[in-house]
Amino acid sequence: MKRFVVVGHRAASSGDFKLDDMAGGAGRLDILLRCINSTFFLSHGIRRDAEIYLVLQGEPNPPRTIRINGSEVRYLNPDERSTGALVRNALLKDLEGDEVRSSPGIYISKRSFSQVLEDLSKVSRIVYLKEDGQDVRGQDLEGDITFVISDHQDLREEEEALLLAHQPLTVTLGPLSYHADHCITIMLNELDRRQ
Ligand SMILES: C[S@@+](CC[C@H](N)C(=O)[O-])C[C@H]1O[C@@H](n2cnc3c(N)ncnc32)[C@H](O)[C@@H]1O
Repeated sequence: MKRFVVVGHRAASSGDFKLDDMAGGAGRLDILLRCINSTFFLSHGIRRDAEIYLVLQGEPNPPRTIRINGSEVRYLNPDERSTGALVRNALLKDLEGDEVRSSPGIYISKRSFSQVLEDLSKVSRIVYLKEDGQDVRGQDLEGDITFVISDHQDLREEEEALLLAHQPLTVTLGPLSYHADHCITIMLNELDRRQ
């Protein structure tokens, strides 16, 4: 499994936003929607061996975590608006107990960044994508692997401390600072070339 965890620092944690205002009122949810597209869409197909976790830390109900699994997902289309509608539907679900399924392959929970890391570190290697990490070329990226990325802001000090406690490999994709969704595309391309 190739998995991405994206932290949305201001991303809306309720479904109370307009699909016309995902970059504004929804706290840069547009960035996370592009990350969904980059994780799954090929020219003529969907990456079934990929998964994404979006950790929504904006108001009014943080944290909320949306998980999308490529082997199960349906009704996913490349336009941001329809993906935004799927995410909004998930956020409108009543959350009792654990993770709840919103639509095929799309799940929502109250898990925090810390809980997501705790859970994934039991089943997967954790890799921190960071501008000043070690060059991705030549790194061993075999097996079940989870890449952690931040949105338009860097991880906060306390978030980075939580992540570093799991002793991730810290990797850079190149000499410039890229958009989060572009990092996913570059990383998947790197993995594709190794297969
Ligand atoms: C738009 S950047 C974050 C903001 C940026 N650091 C700034 O303040 O200008 C989004 C995220 O993509 C990842 N990222 C960006 N460039 C990268 C690179 N060259 N190598 C690895 N990860 C990168 C990091 O996780 C980063 O937090």
